[in-house]
Parts: sequence; structure tokens; C-alpha cells
Amino acid sequence: YKRITVKSLVEMKRNGEKISMLTAYDYTMAKIVDSAGIDVILVGDSASNVMAGHETTVPITLDQMIYHASSVIRAIQRCLVVVDLPFGSYQSDPKEALRSAIRIMKESGAHSIKLEGGKEVKDSIKKILNAGIPVMGHLGLTPQSIYKFGTYTVRAKEEEEAEKLKEDALLLEKLGCFAIVLEKVPAKLAQEVAESISIPVIGIGAGAGVDGQVLVTHDMIGMTHEFHPRFLRRYLNLYDEMTNAFENYISDVKSVDFPNENEQY
Ligand code: KIV
Ligand code: NA
Repeated sequence: YKRITVKSLVEMKRNGEKISMLTAYDYTMAKIVDSAGIDVILVGDSASNVMAGHETTVPITLDQMIYHASSVIRAIQRCLVVVDLPFGSYQSDPKEALRSAIRIMKESGAHSIKLEGGKEVKDSIKKILNAGIPVMGHLGLTPQSIYKFGTYTVRAKEEEEAEKLKEDALLLEKLGCFAIVLEKVPAKLAQEVAESISIPVIGIGAGAGVDGQVLVTHDMIGMTHEFHPRFLRRYLNLYDEMTNAFENYISDVKSVDFPNENEQY
């Protein structure tokens, strides 16, 4: 396999090839996603919701992110692995941010980190990049600030917020980020942002005018089923398929249909 690097992603944008990205938090899932040929795996702090059952991404810890990331790293052969810096591991000062990023790189073997925000986290991004750690930005809906915004609705619909977003995207490019995730903003604005910078913009709920797409794997394979935002396309309905399998197993155990003659020693 030819390994995907941060350089490959910028080249893909230049060549007009769209970038595919999905989340994974564990070995088994990462192995399937990587083998399928995904370009980027994100060890997202959405693990806080999907794996741990928290209501927000706020509670997940750096140690927990490192555990998820190291499990993913053991599975992959080809894709680039990006790991979210969790809430509280980079907001207080650039030194803390660098320490957290270094822990992720050393203890998990990940290839890069992602953090949320623009101007507010500029010094932290600089510090991390200076240490040679590739940084992916994240603008638009930034779930770690959910208590500041109060809702998960579309961002940057108003002129003022759209202007700040455009400035932040330019800033992230200038600082040296290798890509930016743009979450839940109007498609027209997202396309404008993607066209204004040379690093890839990877969208989630940001339309088709960007340089790639990311979804939460558990959502797109339908393991989660209470969550249906407009941007989510479901490729499987695993919730129903798994429920069916579990019901069949229970019934086979109760009726002593399982195990049969061939399934014992
Ligand atoms: O944590 C996550 O899964 C993310 C993606 C939704 C971009 O940040
Ligand atoms: Na995230």
C-alpha cells in the first residue's frame, strides 16, 4: 500500500480528487475502514457520545483518547490517522496544548492531531506545528463549545459569523494547518472557504463544494438510530440487523437450538 500522508491530501485537493474520511475508535472497526480504502481515519472525540454514552464531547479525557487512538493505530496499514485533542487538553495555554499533542503522538503512534477553533487557539496551533506535529483545524459547529452556543444548529448563517469563519480559515492555512474540518455551515459559504485556500476543507453537513467529506461511522452504518440530521446518509441499517441477530440468538439459546451437534466438542 502507498501510505496517505498530510502531503497526499494537499495533492489530492490540487488534483481535484475528493478526500474520504470516517471516524473509528477501536481496532476492529479501524481495520475494516482502512481495508476498504478510506483516505483518513479520525479518532474523533465523538467517542465521548458514541463509545461512552455521554451527551456531549466535553467529558472525554486525554487518556481515553490515547486508548482509542492506539487501538486504531494497531489496525491500519494505509490511511492517515488524525486524533482529536479533547476539551480541556489545549484551551488553557499553548504549552499545555503542545504537551497534550505530544502525548497523543508518543503514546498512540498517531500521525496528526485536530483541535477546534480559529483565532482563539492560534498560539497553541503554532506551538504544536513548531514541534513537527501536523494539525487539522475544525471550524463551524465546534461541539466542544456546545454550552456557549446552546444548540447543534447550522452555524455562520449570519454575515458576522460567516466573516469570522472565513478569516479563521485563512488564518489556519497561514499558520500551516494541513486541512480543516468544516462542520454544519451553509454549502455556499463552505464552497467559498474551500476556494479561498489551498489546503483541503473536509465537510460534514457543509455541502458538495468542499474538498472531502467526513461522517461518524456508527451513524452512516446505522448503528445509532436516534440521530438523523439532514446531512447524514445511512449506508446500512445495522441497528435493525443487529437487533434481529441478537433476537435470533436469544431464541436459539432458549429453545436449545444452539449449540447443535456440530457446534460442540
Ligand atoms: O469527533 C468527531 O467525530 C468529529 C467529526 C464529526 C468531524 O470531529
Ligand atoms: Na470532534
